[in-house]
Amino acid sequence: IRSTFLDYFQGNGHRVVESSPLVPKDDPTLLFTNAGMVQFKDFFLGLKKPPYKRAVSAQRCVRAGGKHNDLDNVGFTARHHTFFEMLGNFSFGDYFKEEAILYSWELLTEVLGIPKSKLWITVLEGDDESANLWLNKIGLEKERLIYCGESDNFWMMGETGPCGPCSEIFYDHGPSVPGGPPGSATADGDRFVEIWNLVFMQYEKSSTGQMSRIPAPCVDTGMGLERVSAVLQGVTNNYDIDLFAKLISGCAKIFPESDVSNNSLKVIADHIRSCSFLIADGVLPSNEGRGYVLRRIIRRALRHGHKLGNKELFFYQLVELLVREMGGAYSVLSEKSDLLAVTLKSEEERFLETLDHGMKILLEHIKKSKNKNIAGEVAFQLYDTYGFPVDLTAD
Ligand code: SER
Repeated sequence: IRSTFLDYFQGNGHRVVESSPLVPKDDPTLLFTNAGMVQFKDFFLGLKKPPYKRAVSAQRCVRAGGKHNDLDNVGFTARHHTFFEMLGNFSFGDYFKEEAILYSWELLTEVLGIPKSKLWITVLEGDDESANLWLNKIGLEKERLIYCGESDNFWMMGETGPCGPCSEIFYDHGPSVPGGPPGSATADGDRFVEIWNLVFMQYEKSSTGQMSRIPAPCVDTGMGLERVSAVLQGVTNNYDIDLFAKLISGCAKIFPESDVSNNSLKVIADHIRSCSFLIADGVLPSNEGRGYVLRRIIRRALRHGHKLGNKELFFYQLVELLVREMGGAYSVLSEKSDLLAVTLKSEEERFLETLDHGMKILLEHIKKSKNKNIAGEVAFQLYDTYGFPVDLTAD
């Protein structure tokens, strides 16, 4: 799927550009690379002249902090990850809405063979230009075109930076999965899954909140590799795609009491990806900034291992399996595999000393608590003495 996407856009005049690392270069506004467009930010803003007008990439992304944060959804939905791969095509002042829409439709329905009747489209309220393209150029049935407000259909990279209205493509997994169409009260379910976002970049938001026009309208798109894989592999949960199936069955071997549908295994499989890629890209566990986000994700994974009855070191053992699965597409992972295992193991050794004791205290307080509340003092003690980040306690 990854190479089909890259080949399609290369065939349509796009330069294939390597994924950039997860730590954005010279960009203090962003914790992690959270989208394919991050490495092209200066091209959109007109600060640097791009050596090509069209690009395509498969970008490794982490959304575990800042404006786009999916950490709290992992383990609760079929479609969220802390680490995922984003397939994207980009135009730097070259084509705009019409070609972006035509390319996406051709790739999904003709190259990948997804039935048109399963696809729903959203556009920003007032963006009649995009709506007309979908209805008249593509021939989409009116019933499957939905107008949404800015919270859904205006994309911003962070609190500041390039931004613009967007049009999103959803896949309907059918009535066996709970959830309603985009814009409805039950849109948060997993039935209608956004698989591709087409952003029509036109503005820059400054730190004072001012919107100014960028030099030329641009296109930034992002399709979730795991989500589209689920569609093409005929499964309704991202954690059932081939790549996760192997990671999850590898995890299940470590915890013989668990079966592969266990949610904790999914969380662990998600977290080994983000943690390994973050370390490979130069982040080390620490008590602040990026390193603390990494530490929090590792500790969440260890807490899920504990929930499965584990008292031994286990997390670092998954590195080998991950490298086997993803080292081909991302050589940085195979090159750094020793560092990944050593770093995760020592982090695990530190936390295992206090995890068990801290969990006993936490569970006692949860049992005693009314309305799911525990006292701030307890959360602080868990943090201060037992190394429980507060979001781990909340989780
Ligand atoms: N930047 C947009 C997103 O992340 C499209 O790539 O959804």
